[in-house]
Amino acid sequence: MCGIVGACRADNGVRQILLRGLTTLEYRGYDSAGLAFVGDKNVQRLAVAGRVAKLRQITKITDGSTGIGHTRWATHGAPDEHNAHPIAVGQVALAHNGIIENHAELRRELTDAGRVFHTDTDSEVAAHLLDMALADGDDFLTAMRRTAAKLHGAYALVAVAAGNNSIAFARDGSPLMAGTDNKNGFFVASDAQALNGIAHRALYVEDRHCGLISTAGITLVTTDGETAAQNWQPLPSGSETVLLGEHRHFMEKEIFEQPDAIAAALQHHLPKHQLSLRHFGNGATSLFKRTRQVVIIACGTSYHAALIATYWLRNFGIPCRAAIASEYRYCPDKLAAGVLAVGVSQSGETADTLSAMRTAKSAGATTVALVNVPHSAMAREADLLMLACAGTEIGVAATKSFTAQLTQLLILTLALTKARNVLAPAQEEDTLMQLRQLPYLMRRALLIEDDIRRWARVFAGADSALFIGRHTHYPLALEGALKLKEISYIHAEGCAAGELKHGTLALVDKRVPIVGLAPDNELLPKITSNLAEVAARDGRLFVLAGEKFDMPATDTLRLQDGGNFLSPLIYAVPLQLLAYHTALQKGTDIDKPRNLAKSVTVE
Ligand code: M6R
Repeated sequence: MCGIVGACRADNGVRQILLRGLTTLEYRGYDSAGLAFVGDKNVQRLAVAGRVAKLRQITKITDGSTGIGHTRWATHGAPDEHNAHPIAVGQVALAHNGIIENHAELRRELTDAGRVFHTDTDSEVAAHLLDMALADGDDFLTAMRRTAAKLHGAYALVAVAAGNNSIAFARDGSPLMAGTDNKNGFFVASDAQALNGIAHRALYVEDRHCGLISTAGITLVTTDGETAAQNWQPLPSGSETVLLGEHRHFMEKEIFEQPDAIAAALQHHLPKHQLSLRHFGNGATSLFKRTRQVVIIACGTSYHAALIATYWLRNFGIPCRAAIASEYRYCPDKLAAGVLAVGVSQSGETADTLSAMRTAKSAGATTVALVNVPHSAMAREADLLMLACAGTEIGVAATKSFTAQLTQLLILTLALTKARNVLAPAQEEDTLMQLRQLPYLMRRALLIEDDIRRWARVFAGADSALFIGRHTHYPLALEGALKLKEISYIHAEGCAAGELKHGTLALVDKRVPIVGLAPDNELLPKITSNLAEVAARDGRLFVLAGEKFDMPATDTLRLQDGGNFLSPLIYAVPLQLLAYHTALQKGTDIDKPRNLAKSVTVE
């Protein structure tokens, strides 16, 4: 979603830093981009609808020693040049991530006060408030504080003002950080990646805090004006520069990275391939012992990982449920003691998940963040942190983060079970042995790519597709459908196979390709019957199965899945490949599908 970068440097122009930062943030998804530089008498704003490459073209001869940049993912107002940020009003230019919920009311008040609006955005009210405060004689920081105090909703704001070589900022609910190169360069950004290789230390701005950076340093205060503590941390340098290498798309690269990513995650969390509760950090053993119930909170693909984990936890007798974060935050559990709330998120910044975690925490739960981005908001706020260790994921479609999350959720399941003394040593050894095989089994699953390409030719010609499965393969059916629709724009539905005859079966005819998931487990006879019901109605079946599935004349691809627990991780691979190759045939923008963003920082 929207991205922010700002820079102040004494000795040089900041255009390259801003453009480089915006390019790094492109993967998050956006539809317009802009820059603003401080001049003596005005601010110079340049913006485009479309890509940062276009912005680079039109800003070739513009630069300054203080400036801000933004990539906008439209929420209020069309994704065109005039709604792009930074928004210039009077003597200021302002960029905003988040949503200002009381914008309509503020717009009415400001219009009554004679202000004229030029965009359809919710953000313009903040630019007017800031400009008015400066016109009233406030200094820049006070003007930003007064502006922030009037806003309801979620925001990260950065702004520049004519004749003032500093950047004012404010945060409530949307990520924002400051950075320094330890010399005379100070920066702000919505994501550490934007300052990769530029800043050496970072300060994560807390909610309801405001500040000012200039080449002289940084001032940080609360929105009430109290001086705030500055907690600087080293910014890991060279956080990898992510290159496509031999691949056509990041999604393809990330699918093929899964065996190595999982091997690295296993090495990190199970050194010597042993399950040690101490590895989870101080107090984890007693926390896990006390845990009576688990609620796993997530969105999208991460929610599907959460759903799969509930089958594992229940298998070991641990009461649990998975909750969609955007629903949970408005209908939380009445939490009793002993509840562990696990937030699962690739980005660690998803607004709904972050907020639902806060809801659970304030109701008394202990929180665990299972995230892929180490310094994300969820990582910083949770009581316990588990890293997915998948490496940077650029493609909007989550792939390796999904299987990495599942790996960690399985390890967490074992840890909880072990702490409660209900994990038999043989079962622990058996599950760990399955886990050790995982990278190898994933490599094998990738080998069916050619057959999947053949399937994809059929799917690319369809208007609609179905995915069906049972038990842990039901959430996987949901995931297969989500993957296909988000990058190929084909309507797709995932369905619990037993539910088919309660409605979805009516959709089945020979034009709808149907993926059946039929692993070798105790439910194989049941899913085989469900698939037979589909075949009897002319449904065109494409089945991913183990060795035992037997339905003559059915297009079947065989997978070696290594046992019940690992099966959904292995079956995920061909589903990702199917979505990828279908989208490839349709010629869509695979890494940046329309209307979507990698990191969803608005509600
Ligand atoms: O960063 P998160 O894991 O919290 O993101 C949640 C969803 O937005 C994300 O999984 C989304 O559904 C993906 N685009 C799916 O591929």
